[in-house]
Amino acid sequence: MNRRGFLGTLTITLGGVIVAALGVPVIGYLLAPLFTPVPDDFVDVGAVTDFKAGSTTLAQIDDPTPLPWAGQTARAAIWVRRLSDGSFQVFAENCTHLGCPVMWRAAAELFFCPCHGGVFYPDGRVAGGPPTRPLLQRQWTVAGDRLLVRGRDLPNVPTS
Ligand code: FES
Repeated sequence: MNRRGFLGTLTITLGGVIVAALGVPVIGYLLAPLFTPVPDDFVDVGAVTDFKAGSTTLAQIDDPTPLPWAGQTARAAIWVRRLSDGSFQVFAENCTHLGCPVMWRAAAELFFCPCHGGVFYPDGRVAGGPPTRPLLQRQWTVAGDRLLVRGRDLPNVPTS
């Protein structure tokens, strides 16, 4: 092999090594979420006694996520309604029309959506406006004195 051929082969070989060294981690980074299962755990909302019977309260949970750098985006707001029999209804915060956060107005006993005037009854049924589906609910359970909700459901995915 002459000098020109040797340098050409060396350049191509080193270029391939550099592309592989940079490309494999990038491809791994991009494809890893496809193979990482999303945790399907219940997450803690708070003490059961924090929610008075007949009240609807805004609470925050940390959604389980495979992305450790999610930061504030892993926080999710939920509305917790405690019924007089001690059971709960837990609603996703997002309106079922286009996803704006709904607000609970205790005086009216209704959820209002500020975006397009959607209105929901306390049990999540549609009372008026453009939404056609009730507020999405999350599964809940009580463990000891703690209220837990399933953190996996996305607000835009119907649960039933
Ligand atoms: Fe709530 Fe449109 S997003 S009414």
